[in-house]
Amino acid sequence: MDATIDVPETTEAEVQSPFGDNSDMAANPQPVFKALRDGSPVLALEGSLVLSRKADIDEALRHPEMFTSNMSAVDLKNVRPLIPLQIDPPEHKKYRKLLDPIFAPRLMTAMEDEVAVLVNDLIDRFIDRGEVDFAAEFSVPYPSQVFLTLLGLPLEELDRFLAMKDGIIRPDHVTGSPYGSAKADAHQQKVADSIYAYFNQVLDEREAAPRADLVSRFLEAEVDGHKLTREDILDICFLFLIAGLDTVTATLDCMFGFLSQHPEHRQQLADDPSLIPSAIEELLRWETPVQMVARASLEDTTFAGCPVHKGDSIVLILGSANTDEAEVEDADQVRFDREVNRHIAFGGGIHRCLGSHLARMELRVALREWHRRIPEYSIEPGHTLVYTPSIRSIDHFPMRFTAREQ
Ligand code: HEM
Repeated sequence: MDATIDVPETTEAEVQSPFGDNSDMAANPQPVFKALRDGSPVLALEGSLVLSRKADIDEALRHPEMFTSNMSAVDLKNVRPLIPLQIDPPEHKKYRKLLDPIFAPRLMTAMEDEVAVLVNDLIDRFIDRGEVDFAAEFSVPYPSQVFLTLLGLPLEELDRFLAMKDGIIRPDHVTGSPYGSAKADAHQQKVADSIYAYFNQVLDEREAAPRADLVSRFLEAEVDGHKLTREDILDICFLFLIAGLDTVTATLDCMFGFLSQHPEHRQQLADDPSLIPSAIEELLRWETPVQMVARASLEDTTFAGCPVHKGDSIVLILGSANTDEAEVEDADQVRFDREVNRHIAFGGGIHRCLGSHLARMELRVALREWHRRIPEYSIEPGHTLVYTPSIRSIDHFPMRFTAREQ
């Protein structure tokens, strides 16, 4: 059942600049993380302090009063803080108390049948071809379709949804100008404004005629006499577009990227679907699709022996924490029978992912239905997968497959 993964040598350049436009590093980050942990576990790089040891990363995540994720940590052209990610304690707790029950595991599991229909409809479109662009035809549309379903919006809104999230997350791709350039910034700003306008209209409709959907639940939710205001709900919806779509796409890309290159692992899932939940945890750990999260220091302090100034940015490499041999047994082995798996692919501390149960359900249904119908698949011969940095998605993923006879 176990298989050791080949860990190639890391080049000096990769260790020096692990976050540049380095597609080898994005495709195969684990050796770079190891080199960082061994050589520079607290690295000052381009104005940021980069942490790669699990113990240090856990420590930083546990101290939001020192290291904030508020608007000073990441600028996405939102006009107010994204809720709850950019809210500091103690206010943050009030929002999680309201939102956690809406994303409880029981409610997410109850959606499995409806979500399985979406997965099977997508697979129906290409199953007779024996080949597919996994990204364009599966991993990109699927999470947005689940979200539209949750929000009670028609699936025909898919293209508009994809344009809104891409306009915020990758304005450089959309405009062809570098991230942070005037053109990309202006596009990001225009899309941000349109997101507020779009959800304002949805809220008007749900206020007039509530339904059994997420937006209506936000409108009704009340804890300790506290209700969400319209602005609160807009800020939550804005964050969901950013946090809940690309993350699942990237996770599917990483998982199927791994499985299509490791036939023994793929076969295990095709032969025994009961392994899927533990395979999801193990691939989240090994691949860590959201490689890093950002914080900003709220005070002058020292951390792991290094001076940190108020306002400094801190990068926490979750992928490195998840493969840190000091904390994880057999850290460089991908084992679907791992009994203890305390990965932090969903982050840690107060900002740990609100959507983890939704994400796990989406992944579970996708892996189950896919392997039930398509047990054998591999990357198109001669093609090399190119991963995007930071959130490790694969824009072009040509795959060949053999469907199971029904
Ligand atoms: C496999 C898919 C996903 C991964 C890997 C992932 C990963 C993460 C990570 C690493 C964080 C922590 C960010 C930080 O500390 O700066 C986070 C937070 C968050 N995620 Fe996810 N996420 C996923 C899916 C989702 C989905 C589907 C939703 C939709 C509801 C979602 C909503 C959120 C929210 C709202 C937060 C902020 C929580 C807070 O600040 O209290 N995520 N996620």
